[in-house]
Amino acid sequence: MAGKYPLFAVTLERWYERHKRDLPWRGTDNPYRIWVSEIILQQTRVAQGYDYYRRFIEEFPDVASLAAAPEERVLRAWQGLGYYSRARNMHAAARRVVDVYGGTFPTDYADVRSLKGIGDYTAAAICSIAYGQPFAVLDGNVFRVLSRYFLVDLPIDTGAGKKYFKSLADELLDRARPGLYNQAIMDFGALQCVPKSPACEDCPLADGCLGLSRGRVEELPRKARSLAVTDRYLVYFFVVRGSGVFLHRRGTDDIWAGLYEPYLQEFASRPGTDEILQVVRNVFGPHVQGVRLLREGQKHLLTHRRLWIDSYRIDVDSDFRLPGFEEIQIKGIGKYPMPKPIVELFQRMAGGELIPRP
Ligand code: ADE
Repeated sequence: MAGKYPLFAVTLERWYERHKRDLPWRGTDNPYRIWVSEIILQQTRVAQGYDYYRRFIEEFPDVASLAAAPEERVLRAWQGLGYYSRARNMHAAARRVVDVYGGTFPTDYADVRSLKGIGDYTAAAICSIAYGQPFAVLDGNVFRVLSRYFLVDLPIDTGAGKKYFKSLADELLDRARPGLYNQAIMDFGALQCVPKSPACEDCPLADGCLGLSRGRVEELPRKARSLAVTDRYLVYFFVVRGSGVFLHRRGTDDIWAGLYEPYLQEFASRPGTDEILQVVRNVFGPHVQGVRLLREGQKHLLTHRRLWIDSYRIDVDSDFRLPGFEEIQIKGIGKYPMPKPIVELFQRMAGGELIPRP
């Protein structure tokens, strides 16, 4: 039986039958695959997630293969998706499924929710889609649909707002078909009830939509805070010695945890050429044989940061050493997980040739 407003669920489900996206993780009740797809979709749009999902499942077809893989391979499969702690958490969770549950994905909501990187949303998605358990999902799409249809202007990023939306979502859930309903409302938010200029004239929920009848659709959902974004200024030095390049692995206390990168100098504001040449002199000194600008002002957006990257290629002589760095053959760098802008810079350095995947 659908929840308190049965027509709401039925309308969404009918819409879904006609408009749902044909996705490779649909039509499976394998919790591992659903988990992987949900984590990937928290990171990217469906179109890009599709390829990542296929490659990930090909490389790690089940929990056991993910658990057994070295972390670097998992990060490499994740390369370009960003937010690498998600991949590290998945890896840790897979190991726990093997160690604690004998390799069988748990079915109890509390057990699923206790795995690293699995929050309320992901636990509800897995338990409803894989096992048909009655847990309602709340993601950005659901917040949007509910806030508009029921005209809720409580901010979605406050405790009170979250609590209200959670109980509303629970009331609306179709308990007979929770997986179908959850996917229906998410697809509806992604395709029909879109953030900007939704086609309300074609919407099957238009009749009962309070946001529409009061002219408030575009301003909902509300947020209390706008996301503060800070600028960071990075200069990368691709130090090349013959056919090798110097890389090191990043620590775990900052962006891009555990990924490989060339020598980095960070500045408090955009550096001038003088400051950059000073680094070249101080760090690489008499070993420098050539300095070339690779790219200037490369912009890269993360959730809370705007990165501005300048990069240089520094050719050094055969006596040069860089403590804490490994000298890696350029032709083999494809197997090292690296941040997306670094991959692009290596591609540029190679004259546009793609670095082969391992
Ligand atoms: N977004 C994230 N997961 C989804 C799913 N299973 N269906 C529709 N949209 C989604």
